[in-house]
Amino acid sequence: MTIAFSSNPLQSPPVPPSGRRRPRLTFIGTGYLGSTYAICYAEMGYEVLGIDVDADKIAKLAGGEVPVHEPGLDELLRKNLAGGRLRFGTDYAEAAAFGDVHFICVGTPQRADGMAADLSYVETAVTMLTPHLRRKALIVGKSTVPVGTAEWVEQLVARHTPPELGIEVAWSPEFLQEGVAVEDVLRPNRVIFGVKTQWARDMLYAAHKGTFDLAATEDREVPVVITDFATAELVKVAANAFLATKISFINAMAEVCEAAGADVTQLARAIGYDSRIGTKFLRAGVGFGGGCLPKDIRAFQARAQELGVGEALRFLHEVDLINQRRRQKVVEIAADMLGRPYGPAGPDLTGIKIAVLGAAFKPNSDDVRDSPALSVVRRLSRAGAEVSVYDPEGMANAERELPEAIYPKTLGDAVTGAELVCVLTAWDEFRYLDPTTLGDVVGARRVIDGMNCLDAPQWVQAGWEYRGMGRAISPLSGMEG
Ligand code: UGA
Repeated sequence: MTIAFSSNPLQSPPVPPSGRRRPRLTFIGTGYLGSTYAICYAEMGYEVLGIDVDADKIAKLAGGEVPVHEPGLDELLRKNLAGGRLRFGTDYAEAAAFGDVHFICVGTPQRADGMAADLSYVETAVTMLTPHLRRKALIVGKSTVPVGTAEWVEQLVARHTPPELGIEVAWSPEFLQEGVAVEDVLRPNRVIFGVKTQWARDMLYAAHKGTFDLAATEDREVPVVITDFATAELVKVAANAFLATKISFINAMAEVCEAAGADVTQLARAIGYDSRIGTKFLRAGVGFGGGCLPKDIRAFQARAQELGVGEALRFLHEVDLINQRRRQKVVEIAADMLGRPYGPAGPDLTGIKIAVLGAAFKPNSDDVRDSPALSVVRRLSRAGAEVSVYDPEGMANAERELPEAIYPKTLGDAVTGAELVCVLTAWDEFRYLDPTTLGDVVGARRVIDGMNCLDAPQWVQAGWEYRGMGRAISPLSGMEG
């Protein structure tokens, strides 16, 4: 069932178990997801408690510092801490005493021993919270999980709480994108309620009412899909699988364009005019990365295999392979531009100084998890190159992840003397670089535009040898439409 909410359709909304007018919310796990939700829901007027086992992270949040780079979040954090609606802590007993609705926002990373998702953080969150519960509450999963997890969480809850408390479970996946997470949480394009009872549905409605009220003031509606647990869980992974497939589709076209001498950026624009296809998520480049799409398509395949329908998702293996090949393609282009032969063990780039602009998996983020940029840096370093990396926000995380690269303080330091510049994250700071000024400090004017985000003719005119991804070699000026 889909309902579009912009005002309260309930005649008599249920009284939250705490007796408050609005349910009190806890967000368990204060990474990107949980911290953004906790802060934004406080901003919408809820009383909120953020919980994490990481005391350092909690101390930072409680002190007004967001532990990740997310535009707009710092300001909202400080405002709502000062307003008294938002608190952070590590004590599950406090969370149980406080909350009516407990949102599970912990990570579900790829397991070290395979493609499946590691559910140990979900299990810990549930088993640490439930023994402290003394009144009815709703436990809501927001983390991305394999289908069937909500049923399992329900069993865990039943094992750890007396039935007379009537603790219920629901699943409501989130769709926030890093870099625009605040906007995505305050103004979701849809909300999913995976529920079994009317009470769970009503409590979820009450817990999301802030987003519906905001929509009403802006003359918008938020579609709500009310469904069962399994569908709610699958909505999330299906959405991410579709997005990953769209990116790999255009990257596969990039491979064909490279072989045929065509230009994938123009191809994407031309097919995107068909509204059935659309232009979004058709940017060819070094492929997708981050803490979500890569591990989600793997976990989805592993789960499908367990369910006996592995064949249905076999194409996701291909999606993954196309994605990995894009990273290697940058190394191939580098070897070609630098005149270093590409042997069976890859090229020998010994003695070559390369500047990589970008470390975060996407702009406006400091997240380097499964970052295509860092994967390319690793490959270039292994081929013998001396790689200097610069990123506006991701330097500390990148250095922790990949200490073998060089991390100069400024962009200028990174590119000085470089024989090749690779732009691998589409930060505005890189997109609008002046190629003439930059040309004066580099060792040689060679650039790989791994995100197809530079103004190619402008770079060519400034004397650069330019190579994009899936684009004809050295596009002529004036060819861009
Ligand atoms: C993704 C989804 O977009 C969110 O809807 C979802 O909630 C989130 O995962 C999650 O599961 O929590 P996110 O990982 O923040 O969000 O990043 P995206 O904006 O989806 O970008 C993922 C990767 O795809 C980036 O490396 C980006 O550079 C790449 N990308 C994106 C392309 O290569 N081409 C495109 O056209 C678009």
